[in-house]
Amino acid sequence: MASGVWHMEKRSSIRNDSFVDRGDSEGSLECGSLSIIVLGASGDLAKKKTFPALFNLYRQGFLPPSEVHIFGYARSKMTDDELKNRIHGYLVPSKNATPELSDDVSAFLRLIKYVSGSYDTEEGFQLLDGDITKYECEQNSQGVSRRLFYLALPPSVYPSVCRMISLCCMDKSKNGGWTRIVVEKPFGRDLESAEQLSSQIGELFDESQIYRIDHYLGKELVQNLLVMRFANRFFLPLWNRDNIANVQIVFREDFGTEGRGGYFDQYGIIRDIIQNHLLQVLCLVAMEKPVSLKPEHIRDEKVKVLQAVDRIKDEDVVLGQYEGYRDDPTVPNTSNTPTFATVILRIHNERWEGVPFILKAGKALNSRKAEIRIQFKDVPGDIFKCKKQGRNEFVMRLQPSEAIYMKLTVKQPGLEMSTVQSELDLSYRQRYQGVVIPEAYERLILDTIRGDQQHFVRRDELKAAWEIFTPLLHRIDDGQLKSIPYKPGTRGPTEADTLLENAGYIQTHGYIWIPPTL
Ligand code: NDP
Ligand code: BG6
Repeated sequence: MASGVWHMEKRSSIRNDSFVDRGDSEGSLECGSLSIIVLGASGDLAKKKTFPALFNLYRQGFLPPSEVHIFGYARSKMTDDELKNRIHGYLVPSKNATPELSDDVSAFLRLIKYVSGSYDTEEGFQLLDGDITKYECEQNSQGVSRRLFYLALPPSVYPSVCRMISLCCMDKSKNGGWTRIVVEKPFGRDLESAEQLSSQIGELFDESQIYRIDHYLGKELVQNLLVMRFANRFFLPLWNRDNIANVQIVFREDFGTEGRGGYFDQYGIIRDIIQNHLLQVLCLVAMEKPVSLKPEHIRDEKVKVLQAVDRIKDEDVVLGQYEGYRDDPTVPNTSNTPTFATVILRIHNERWEGVPFILKAGKALNSRKAEIRIQFKDVPGDIFKCKKQGRNEFVMRLQPSEAIYMKLTVKQPGLEMSTVQSELDLSYRQRYQGVVIPEAYERLILDTIRGDQQHFVRRDELKAAWEIFTPLLHRIDDGQLKSIPYKPGTRGPTEADTLLENAGYIQTHGYIWIPPTL
């Protein structure tokens, strides 16, 4: 296992602010004992994301074994070893396995204890509290206990689980300790259910104790957005309706719902991706400069953008469903649930009036990627006939292979005075060789331990996000908007491309950005 300090120095080269505690209480790992409780430990998210993220934090010295203990909790009857066997294979991809890593895995697994119990009775939670307290006493934590409850559970059980935690499992520190709750999306199905959930949890915990996770806010290039926009003179004068023709925020997956059809069919692509992940990215693209980097100042600006979004019109929406989606036995044969959607949002403020923000997300498409594409207007008084080469674009590729590139017109190298489209390219793999970019969940869990809520969704932000999408979602649920079938492995319904064109997006034909290879 590496020393935390060494890695802090190393990693701080890509993310300085993550190591500053701005929280509601002591966030330092040097203070008292830390118990991380994964509720729903038997589930898919826990094994694929939560435990691997904890393992990586452990390996990098952020979870010293002398201070940290990890508890899994779920209804399934399992021994500690059965839980460990279940998650073991997900901690290290087999291609990376080394003897050193395998020692780390064994040491990490020794930190884990499993407790079985229900989500709505006190018995299991009292047992859990007893185990945490016992461990805290053994740690000689000097009365400072820090308890992080990660709800890797369906939202339907959040209220009862939060009630049980508040009744049975709160930290008992006199000062310096804390109890925090991490909740996953989807947080509600619409405005009303989200508000109800917020009120139920809000009666039990303060906002400063609740971390609503949206893992897109933990992605490297999403976190880079504020820096790009507000630390570079280039962008300051250009970032507005005078220069920008349209903005696209795109999520594409080249696989379908894969065993999650039952869950997905209740939500659909708008609730699964657009209302949260893409809308959070939109906020960071469109918000005004915050007064400071304090989490509340940033979140204040995000809320203002959301509140300025106009009501979505049906003609600004194309929905699709891939052929074969209903073959999943957990999906009804008559399902109209969209697995693809393009939705145009319009922001009614001084900076963005008239600029379409095109949010597009789809499953079972022809590629996997997520990107932000800012397309600029044509050059006025164009003496070079640039139009035929295509417009300037600024692209941030969030995944795979993080990159930022600017498409621009240059003189065609050679004798002739002709122009061609080219790019200024910042490909991270090439520019930051050897720098490990952490998984989103790693950063976000570390933030929760440090008490930094900057990259988490505040209650009023969530409300404003649901206000934008709820009327549209209800029209879809009522069958007023239909999903158009599309073939898996394609770009989705062609109607979506027409919608983009009508919104003013001009695709550059013949230009392909080829990411550099090492
Ligand atoms: P699972 O369906 O795997 O559920 C997690 C655990 O919760 C299960 O192992 C089960 O444990 C318990 N559980 C399941 N259904 C119920 C129920 N109806 N009532 C009570 N307990 C139940 O979910 P995931 O792990 O996939 O997701 C957990 C949360 O994370 C969800 O909110 C999901 O939307 C969110 N999420 C998941 C992602 C993923 O990739 N899986 C990605 C992003 C968010 P037991 O029966 O042992 O108690
Ligand atoms: C989750 C969605 O929130 O994000 C999944 O529920 C989706 O449907 C996933 O596959 C995508 O995350 P990423 O980080 O792979 O883009």
